[in-house]
Amino acid sequence: MNKKKLVFSGIQPTGNLHLGNYLGALKNFVTLQDETDCIYCVVDLHAITTFQNPNELKKNVLETVASFVATGLNPDKSIIFNQSSVTGHSELAWILNCVSRIGWLNRMTQFKDKAGSDKEKASVGLYIYPNLMAADILLYKATHVPVGADQKQHLELSRDIAQKFNKDFNCKDFFPLPEPLIPKNVSRVMSLRDGTKKMSKSEESDYSRINLRDEADDIIKKVKKAKSDSEQIPDNLKVLEQKPEALNLLNIYSEISKNSLDKVIKEMSGKEYSHLKTKLAELLISEITPIGKEIEKLLGDKSHLQQILKKGTEKANFIAEENLKNIREKVGLI
Ligand code: AMP
Ligand code: TRP
Repeated sequence: MNKKKLVFSGIQPTGNLHLGNYLGALKNFVTLQDETDCIYCVVDLHAITTFQNPNELKKNVLETVASFVATGLNPDKSIIFNQSSVTGHSELAWILNCVSRIGWLNRMTQFKDKAGSDKEKASVGLYIYPNLMAADILLYKATHVPVGADQKQHLELSRDIAQKFNKDFNCKDFFPLPEPLIPKNVSRVMSLRDGTKKMSKSEESDYSRINLRDEADDIIKKVKKAKSDSEQIPDNLKVLEQKPEALNLLNIYSEISKNSLDKVIKEMSGKEYSHLKTKLAELLISEITPIGKEIEKLLGDKSHLQQILKKGTEKANFIAEENLKNIREKVGLI
């Protein structure tokens, strides 16, 4: 069996990508493309599990591709495509719907969060979303999946589904059990307004997040307004752990300055948060605004972005169809 590492990951085209997507996922995508084969997917079928305006969705798919390329993904090295253009995702998702168990899906915390208080009104798609995610990964027999910490439970489900398929159809090792690659320090970048909630595209206030397309002025304003603490920066992690907003700012600073959190705490302890915020805004501006400018530039040539998707789709489809032949054979579909 081919044991080579194969990386797969996906991002939903549901609007502006932000610092959480960047530190939790995209940065890792870029590092991995120099180490091994990588497939990166704009997961439009996942996006429609909650209603999307069709014109906005089309726009967001291209914007997500532009963000991929602007952060450093190279379409000659990595396969970049959108999910709905490779129909194997939907076909395998159906097969896996029949392998996955209702009891497993009932434990998914993201469904509970996204469906809110009236679960009866959530789409069936939102409920079986993790099965489609398993299909995305297993369609390519991917071995490693770079994601933020919020996706860990979905990855565990993908492993359970792979294992049950291999057992039910008596084909040990047919699907590899995919491993999550979760960054150590920034696995969950928190909202700038509430350190107990993750930074997210869907949070109402734009002040809660740094978008990849924010300009320097926006970054300065948002960091200045970010919730911190009324006391000076403490000198130890134990105290910081009681102050989630402050810890979040220091974690982001540590990641972008490439210094350990310990070192950053030593550097900042006893200082006012305004000092940290000034330095953090400077760092964020130099890291993020060039990406934003590149996204704008890429969006000026939509046919180039469509060309990237077309080329990626051809390559992805080739692998998917090969694997699907074997999958259909295992299940007994003629
Ligand atoms: P999504 O925007 O939900 O499609 O997420 C795309 C990727 O970004 C996934 O790997 C998520 O785990 C990751 N991600 C999203 N929000 C955050 C966050 N606040 N902190 C770290 N990673 C995140
Ligand atoms: N569920 C992921 C998210 O919301 C996106 C996703 C879909 C994904 N399919 C995937 C991530 C496959 C990794 C692998 O962030």
